[in-house]
Amino acid sequence: MGTQKVTPSLIFAISVATIGSFQFGYNTGVINAPETIIKDFINYTLEEKLEDLPTVGLITALWSLSVAIFSVGGMIGSFSVGLFVNRFGRRNSMLMVNLLAIAGACLMGFCKIAESVEMLILGRLIIGIFCGLCTGFVPMYIGEVSPTALRGAFGTLNQLGIVVGILVAQIFGLDILLGSDELWPLLLGFTIIPAILQSVALPFCPESPRFLLINKNEEERTKEVLQRLWGSPDVTEDIQEMKEESIRMSQEKQVTVLELFRSPSYQQPILISIVLQLSQQLSGINAVFYYSTGIFKDAGVQEPIYATIGAGVVNTIFTIVSVFLVERAGRRTLHMIGLGGMAFCSILMTVSLLLKDDYEAMSFVCIAAILIYVAFFEIGPGPIPWFIVTELFSQGPRPTAMAVAGCSNWTSNFLVGLLFPSAASYLGAYVFIIFAAFLVIFLVFTFFKVPETRGRTFDDITRAFEGQAQEASRSGKGPGEINSGQPAKEATTNV
Ligand SMILES: *[C@@H]1O[C@H](CO)[C@@H](O)[C@H](O)[C@H]1NC(C)=O
Repeated sequence: MGTQKVTPSLIFAISVATIGSFQFGYNTGVINAPETIIKDFINYTLEEKLEDLPTVGLITALWSLSVAIFSVGGMIGSFSVGLFVNRFGRRNSMLMVNLLAIAGACLMGFCKIAESVEMLILGRLIIGIFCGLCTGFVPMYIGEVSPTALRGAFGTLNQLGIVVGILVAQIFGLDILLGSDELWPLLLGFTIIPAILQSVALPFCPESPRFLLINKNEEERTKEVLQRLWGSPDVTEDIQEMKEESIRMSQEKQVTVLELFRSPSYQQPILISIVLQLSQQLSGINAVFYYSTGIFKDAGVQEPIYATIGAGVVNTIFTIVSVFLVERAGRRTLHMIGLGGMAFCSILMTVSLLLKDDYEAMSFVCIAAILIYVAFFEIGPGPIPWFIVTELFSQGPRPTAMAVAGCSNWTSNFLVGLLFPSAASYLGAYVFIIFAAFLVIFLVFTFFKVPETRGRTFDDITRAFEGQAQEASRSGKGPGEINSGQPAKEATTNV
């Protein structure tokens, strides 16, 4: 499978792509700090227009709308991934959608001058659509340009981009920086800078070699791109592997959502993709982040925002740890370790929150539990669900699978955000027991259903699923889907 040199060209392409992940993280994190300031802006603006004092209810509703509409945009965007990637290519799709980021940034950046709440809300919607598209494009591009033995490590860089984005947003959002009465439009509009940077740099990145060969049938260009990216003069073996995939793909050029759920050889991988996305969101990570500020405050931390930033730093450090672990320990193992560790920490959080009033030390146990929980999240459930979707599918169904998986992620994220506050007010500290239960269920699922994909080619992984599907239909009734008829190969590990 060629040598596993890490060339400057490969590093450049992946770094430029992860600007998209940064954007997703930044825009997710940016809205939390300036809550009161933006509510004041809404109050002030409406007062001018209505010539009457707006009610607290109306202000809260408009504020919640500008927060939540980002997720609605994300669902729309993630589901539209398939419309772009096969038509324009992976790189050009990433390039084009920066127009959305620029438009969204301008709307949000100028909403205060224009005294328009509508601009703020529309800007958040558009930036949400952009981020939804990024959550599909970036893992797909990274997965397709990376050599097999480093695919997971580079895939984890997508998550690193996200957590760095969140951290930067938290830091910029401090009131001594951009989170002030005057400067908050710049805080929201800042997203235009990475957008411009990425637009300038992307033309120097190569198109995905798999797209060039399998979708466009341009063998010469594929060869050049592969030699440049992977730094090895002889890429015939890699091209051969892609060609085999291409031949089998001639029967499955474009796969619709319905076919994805119907075809026996896709049912298993799409189920795994969706469940892993759910395992990321229903682990309660966002709820814990949301809850942590209150816990830190209760524990006597003077400025809880700094404690939240501390959690962001832990987040980043352990994502980096994961980059180095994922090709050694494997995806399946790390995901299970992450889920198990998070489940344990959730229970610890519940216990320490319940005992907090009796024993002072319990506040610190709780803070420790939160930080360790975050660390376990970034070991597995944070990064892995994003890139494993790319790994479980071949070229034909991949864009549709990314769309379905991305949309599951955004939807479950949205639902947790919507339901958690009321669940927390009914259940109090016991709310984390629910997440612990989910985590255990996902752990069992991963143990029985998720295959190890480390060091295996896309072709090899998808053949194994086809083999399983054929086996199932042979031992069951009636004939299964007609496949290429080749049996699943042994896993070829080459690390
Ligand atoms: C809106 O602003 C006015 C002053 O202009 C203030 O009296 C009122 O309390 C504010 N409402 C809210 C909900 O903050």
